[in-house]
Amino acid sequence: MAKQQSTGRANWSGKWAFILAGAASAVGLGNMWRFPYLAAKFGGGTFLVTYLVLVLTFGISLLLLETTLGRKTGLSAIGAFSHFGKKFAFIGIMASLIPFIITPYYCIIGGWVAKYTVAYLSVDPAALADGGDYFVNFMYSPGESYIWMLLFMAVVFAIVALGVKGGIEKANMVMMPLLILMALGLAIYVCTRPGAIDGLLYYLVPNFTDVNVGELILNAMGQMFYSLSLAMGIMITYGSYLSKRESLTASCLSIGGFDLGVSFIAGALIVPAAFLAMGGAPTNSGPTLMFITLPQVFIEMGPVARIIGFVFFLLVLFAALTSAISLAETCVSILSDAFKWSRKKALGISVLVVVALGVFVNLGYNGFSELRIFGMEVLDFFDFVSNSVLMPIVACLTCIFVGWIIREKVKDDDGREVELKGTEVLAREVKLSTPFRGEKLWAIMVKYIAPVLVIAILVWNIIGVLQ
Ligand code: TRP
Repeated sequence: MAKQQSTGRANWSGKWAFILAGAASAVGLGNMWRFPYLAAKFGGGTFLVTYLVLVLTFGISLLLLETTLGRKTGLSAIGAFSHFGKKFAFIGIMASLIPFIITPYYCIIGGWVAKYTVAYLSVDPAALADGGDYFVNFMYSPGESYIWMLLFMAVVFAIVALGVKGGIEKANMVMMPLLILMALGLAIYVCTRPGAIDGLLYYLVPNFTDVNVGELILNAMGQMFYSLSLAMGIMITYGSYLSKRESLTASCLSIGGFDLGVSFIAGALIVPAAFLAMGGAPTNSGPTLMFITLPQVFIEMGPVARIIGFVFFLLVLFAALTSAISLAETCVSILSDAFKWSRKKALGISVLVVVALGVFVNLGYNGFSELRIFGMEVLDFFDFVSNSVLMPIVACLTCIFVGWIIREKVKDDDGREVELKGTEVLAREVKLSTPFRGEKLWAIMVKYIAPVLVIAILVWNIIGVLQ
């Protein structure tokens, strides 16, 4: 059994630092470039309500499961699983692969966002709204795209190098409030433009026509997993830095609430903005929405295009940076726990791995731009493996593991030895800090509902690729 590591392990200054870090990891590109698109595609309010219900039931349950597992064992993913028996380490190893796959490409996209933030200050906004040439030229440039990727990585790892309290907490404390202010400011500006009301109504009012319920739920669920950074070992690591005094349930509710709030605001910004500029909802998501469509939307706003574009990309840059920091921190903590390396050594090796993989992924755009893996570009392939395949498998195994497999012998109040089974083990950890009112519902979610839903996502993702 892995020993509990108490000496030298980082910890948060308090509950708020933990909540902010969880929110910082959750709020990222997914909130900005996928949530608004999905909401517009799946009937506005219809999607919003489905998403809300899923996050409050399913999402928060899994968030609680992961943070509790981390806090109980005091270890990052691999150690947390092998704490209950060496043979379970493989689940942790799979979860741990995900941050190493995501960090490199997340930093590439972070580099694109950084480039656009600066470009809105230095280039004519009309040049950025040229229907995609500017973006494609940049993305395929053999020199510049690497420079921005490396710059972004340098900032991320510099903050991680300053440590959990000295770097990550401080960075979040600055970037998260600014991020919320900018998002709110932009959304209010857009929604008060004449004509914005049509877009806002489209976004808010439930519309059932042309909405396929199965697709709606699967899309909402996939988005929820990605957005809450679930099943990637991140929340296990972050939970392991949390003190036994702090309430796990309240913290997880706050993190979920934060993420929901920012997604909602992003939708109230992007959907009405698209209506104003193009008379309809955004018809694409991801890089196309962000780097091709939105610059065209901003240019329609006339003289304010430069400032709106700049603030918008700064907002996305903060969202991407704070998420990338938590990804990088997870890589570091996993290596240092798994190989008993010092933080310094683990950091050095993480930098090497992330830079090497980043260069490899970027070569898919310049150097080997014909390279396809299963018909996908390299970046899309990394995204597919981590989010569409590994993530649901890890999520399902984690639920089965915590719901059905784990056991722990403890002494009850009278000093008798009793054996706790499955979810009871983690529920006891939750109750160290506060009463656990939702325990029964949570156990049902983890044991029965979540594994089935997660398998549905996996099957659906794989069918999507085979078609
Ligand atoms: N949640 C992030 C977003 O919405 C993306 C993400 C997925 C992530 N998994 C992660 C971020 C793990 C940090 C850590 O964009």
